[in-house]
Amino acid sequence: MKVTLKSTVGRSAVRVVPVFSDGGGAKKASGLDPALAAIVRKADSTGIFSGKKGEVLPQVAPDSAVEKTLLLMGLGPRKKLDGEVLRTVFGNLGRRLARLSGKKASLSLEQGAAAVCIAKLGAAQAARCMLEGCRLGAYDYQAQKGGRKPRKPASSLALECGDSDASLLKLLRSGLKLADACVDGVNLARELANTPGNYLYPASLASKARSMARSSGLKCKVLGERDLQREKMGGILGVAQGSNRAPRLIQLEYTPRGKAEKTLVIVGKAVTFDSGGISIKPAGGMQDMKFDMAGGAAAIGAMQALARLKPKLRVVAIVPSAENLLGGSAYRPGDVLTSASGKTIEVINTDAEGRLLLADALHYSRRFKPDAVVDMATLTGACVIALGTHASGLMSNDKALARQLLKVSADCGERIWELPLFDEYYKMVESKVADVRNSSGRDAGASTAGAFLGHFIKGVPWAHLDIAGTAWRQAPLGYQPRGATGAGVRLMVELALSMGA
Ligand code: BES
Ligand code: MN
Ligand code: ZN
Repeated sequence: MKVTLKSTVGRSAVRVVPVFSDGGGAKKASGLDPALAAIVRKADSTGIFSGKKGEVLPQVAPDSAVEKTLLLMGLGPRKKLDGEVLRTVFGNLGRRLARLSGKKASLSLEQGAAAVCIAKLGAAQAARCMLEGCRLGAYDYQAQKGGRKPRKPASSLALECGDSDASLLKLLRSGLKLADACVDGVNLARELANTPGNYLYPASLASKARSMARSSGLKCKVLGERDLQREKMGGILGVAQGSNRAPRLIQLEYTPRGKAEKTLVIVGKAVTFDSGGISIKPAGGMQDMKFDMAGGAAAIGAMQALARLKPKLRVVAIVPSAENLLGGSAYRPGDVLTSASGKTIEVINTDAEGRLLLADALHYSRRFKPDAVVDMATLTGACVIALGTHASGLMSNDKALARQLLKVSADCGERIWELPLFDEYYKMVESKVADVRNSSGRDAGASTAGAFLGHFIKGVPWAHLDIAGTAWRQAPLGYQPRGATGAGVRLMVELALSMGA
């Protein structure tokens, strides 16, 4: 799906007409071309279309003065309009256009509700949200669907805007450029997280990261098993023991031109398949555990976007990757692992594997002298119980960093919600036989996982995002497709841009 800016107004296969829900037919039609206005008034008076958010009225050959096909698209009330409403409505549009395959759609930014969106949100933000919604909504994982059907040609949406106002065009273009980079990053993360475990494992993830780095101009370094042994990364190595697929630690680095004032490290959990290990998971739903590398995928997707957007700070991504299986040399409950930090970890439950990878990766991140470290991980079922699929859990040892993340979250529309890291939670993961233990039972499961991580990154401003609920959807919703959502990518891009604008 392509979304472009067009300075001429012409006929296309489909004309998209956004409409607010407030007022009667006259108000709904205000600011539209006479022919379109008449159609919107008629749709309103017959009661078949009210402009409610998400409502769509397709029309075939309504009037010879307009296109053969119209899509009236409800935006809801003017008062409730924000970026997320636009993303959601355009997400549904994107999904619909992708299904039509190969269709050219147009939408005038100078008329009716679209013009109001630009006036209310600003041209750059409105264009950004329209593009993000449309392209993110159009995504569908198809990689293993070969053979029977030929690949569908992509549809496109042209945003029409006269060329008289140069500063307006500049704003629209900057919004679209930012959005395109973000969407490509999100869709890369989705593609990686949707890929089955037999195609995507630590070594193949590393080679995909490496080829992305090569084409994006990023530095890439991959630690193999030997390197991990040299770094004494007992957490990653412990988890990987049960699989024939060797672990990796992927490092991507973006350095700006000129002097970098700050360094941000993004850490992403990449368990390419999580069976639970000896503490095996129930069979129902286990197939989805291929997405247990969504945190790592989001880190890689964000790096691709940042390579294009070029913020003025250094950004390093650290992606520890292993497969959690239960082969003959698998780690067991009761084992004690020694992490890269020297801290020993009692394994209570082999299914609490993500924090073992992250313990080593967080410790490793210290060598970059970061101003902030943010990790993203599909870490706990407890976080899904607490917040469902509608917000990622945020935990942090630094008030300012947490505040900054909440701010950029509101800007980019990726919802996060803070959960506490009380001293008591740090205590709860202490062990009788080692320094810490990897599980303390069901109580406050998201926070005790966070506190476990906190033991390995003391003294560094750090935040943890538990994306277990947000990284995957069972059914499409707005601009999120079924399957991997790419959660975390837009948030990290927004954070990096806010730190190095
Ligand atoms: N990858 C899972 C967490 C998860 C659950 C992600 C559901 C997405 C959806 C993680 O490795 C895990 O198994 N966590 C355990 C921890 C427990 C054993 C302390 C959990 O949440 O049950
Ligand atoms: Mn697990
Ligand atoms: Zn896991």
